[in-house]
Amino acid sequence: MANNLLKGKKGIIFGALNDMSIAWKVAQRAHEEGAEIVLTNAPIAMRMGEINKLAEECGNAPVIPADATNMDDLSNLFDQAMEHLGGKVDFVLHSIGMSPNVRKGKHYTDTNYDFYHKTMDISAMSLHRVLKVAYEKDAINDWGSVIALTYIAAQRVFPDYNDMADAKSLLESISRSFGYHYGVKKKVRINTISQSPTVTTAGSGVKGFDEFVAYADAMSPLGNAGAMDCANYVISMFSDLTKYVTMQNLFHDGGFSYTGVSNEVIDKFAK
Ligand SMILES: NC(=O)c1ccc[n+]([C@@H]2O[C@H](COP(=O)([O-])OP(=O)(O)OC[C@H]3O[C@@H](n4cnc5c(N)ncnc54)[C@H](O)[C@@H]3O)[C@@H](O)[C@H]2O)c1
Repeated sequence: MANNLLKGKKGIIFGALNDMSIAWKVAQRAHEEGAEIVLTNAPIAMRMGEINKLAEECGNAPVIPADATNMDDLSNLFDQAMEHLGGKVDFVLHSIGMSPNVRKGKHYTDTNYDFYHKTMDISAMSLHRVLKVAYEKDAINDWGSVIALTYIAAQRVFPDYNDMADAKSLLESISRSFGYHYGVKKKVRINTISQSPTVTTAGSGVKGFDEFVAYADAMSPLGNAGAMDCANYVISMFSDLTKYVTMQNLFHDGGFSYTGVSNEVIDKFAK
């Protein structure tokens, strides 16, 4: 259902890897809502070529490779995006996460610090890098909106989420800190959306992920929020209907974050 919520708006979407990616759905919805978009991902992620299908579907959106940990790549991305779009952007989606420690099965207590640095850089500092480049180039219009995706392991312990929990805490802090400065300077708003566990390539990398999804579903009064619903929430945050929301961590999780325990979970312990 399209409502022209983003008519006339332009944006950059990071992180569409395949059709399970949350960013993929955001791109589809942004296009449906009338936005003009530029797609980007790490050069290595583009070798699979799937993003070209999405680009075609989204009105032949340009695909510009950028490693989100590389300042030259990000600078080039913003220059090219503004050239293509004919001006500044109105929204940016940061949908990026990767932990080599998780990938290699390193336990949190036995972390590899080179990997740990990479986790922080890719999954959290990359938001600061993107914002710094945009801020210096004055690349986002007044009242523009930046969203980064996060997970509740930033607030509460989920043991197998590993160092990604630390990265998400940093990511949320960067969104608040930069949100202050960018808000004062340009009225640009920056928020994180804390999404239910969702079956995607990044999500499935977490040990015991299926059980995790089932547990969260049983704990959430509305059930787990899906990727398309997450995309819809992101679109509302990119629209002018949410202009005064900034520096927030917004839970999009069917009520999970404020539920102590559900009857469904309690019933599993009934003797
Ligand atoms: N899936 C879940 O359960 C879930 C829940 C809450 C939050 N999130 C967050 O949502 C975001 C999107 O993840 P997803 O679940 O759609 O999985 P995904 O695997 O589809 O997306 C992750 C993306 O990060 C990109 N990426 C990795 N390294 C990069 C780099 N150096 N430069 C640029 N891009 C890079 C990947 O190429 C990929 O497109 C992540 O931040 C993730 O932590 C996911």
